[in-house]
Amino acid sequence: MKKVIFWVVIGVVIGVAGLGGTNYALHATGSNEFCSTCHANDAAKEWKASKHYTNEYAVRAGCSDCHIPEAFIPKILRKMKASKEVYGHFAGVIDTPEKYEAKRKEMAESEWARMRANQAQECRKCHFMAELNNPEKDYLADMHKTALEGGQICIDCHQGVAHKAP
Ligand code: HEC
Ligand code: HEC
Ligand code: HEC
Ligand code: HEC
Repeated sequence: MKKVIFWVVIGVVIGVAGLGGTNYALHATGSNEFCSTCHANDAAKEWKASKHYTNEYAVRAGCSDCHIPEAFIPKILRKMKASKEVYGHFAGVIDTPEKYEAKRKEMAESEWARMRANQAQECRKCHFMAELNNPEKDYLADMHKTALEGGQICIDCHQGVAHKAP
């Protein structure tokens, strides 16, 4: 019996440590700095020139805010897909500006498809279009309401909000 308890305790300790480690790894691999180790000259450079990097409200949207789902399972799935990026990095699939441009459309379409599948939930974490209040363009609130109720999503109309549109 003592032995069983011993192993249960060991199991719990390893389990908790493992979860903590996973969470730490997930966090570390979601920072702007981490993404920029590979994307400094392409995606990150364009992001820095966008309103999502600097704006009059001094609110910043980082890579993960738009690209990494918050829920645990979708997050893990996205990270698993990222192993393709690590492979791609060593295979040099986007290691020159020319190769990046040639692949941009395919990558953008893959990202749009991901967002289409979840109704662009990442955008809606920050933008509450039902609360839009722009006295100078008051038609925008109604326009968004109609479009979103009609099943359109942000990226149907807004492309290239952090990078050059393909
Ligand atoms: C080890 C280098 C490396 C790191 C770190 C990295 N990427 Fe990438 N990324 C790549 C490569 C290479 C590709 C092209 C992969 C391919 O399609 O073959 C890519 C593609 C992408 C794409 C297009 C995905 C698609 O479905 O085609 C997105 C979006 C992206 N990266 C975002 C990020 C974000 C966000 C981070 C940080 C959480 C990040 N990347 C970190 C190398 C990297
Ligand atoms: C972390 C919060 C956050 C996320 C996530 C986010 N945004 Fe934004 N967005 C902002 C802020 C802050 C501004 C700057 C407001 C300004 O200056 O008008 C902005 C500005 C905009 C603008 C107007 C300025 C421009 O660049 O044309 C559009 C359109 C927009 N966002 C669309 C999107 C879309 C589409 C997504 C999802 C792909 C998204 N946003 C994700 C916070 C966010
Ligand atoms: C049917 C197309 C359409 C859809 C769908 C749409 N937008 Fe827009 N959006 C527009 C247009 C057009 C403008 C006005 C652009 C301008 O004034 O330059 C706009 C303006 C904005 C602005 C700036 C508002 C302002 O006061 O200037 C933000 C932020 C924005 N959209 C975010 C979003 C987000 C987030 C979504 C998804 C939840 C979304 N939009 C869905 C067409 C759309
Ligand atoms: C405001 C949301 C937002 C932020 C912040 C953002 N992205 Fe993106 N990203 C997108 C969207 C949406 C696309 C799909 C194509 C498009 O509309 O530009 C995209 C496309 C990409 C692509 C595919 C190539 C392309 O140009 O389409 C890569 C790679 C990428 N992002 C990496 C990053 C990295 C790395 C960061 C941080 C340095 C980042 N993104 C920050 C929304 C964002």
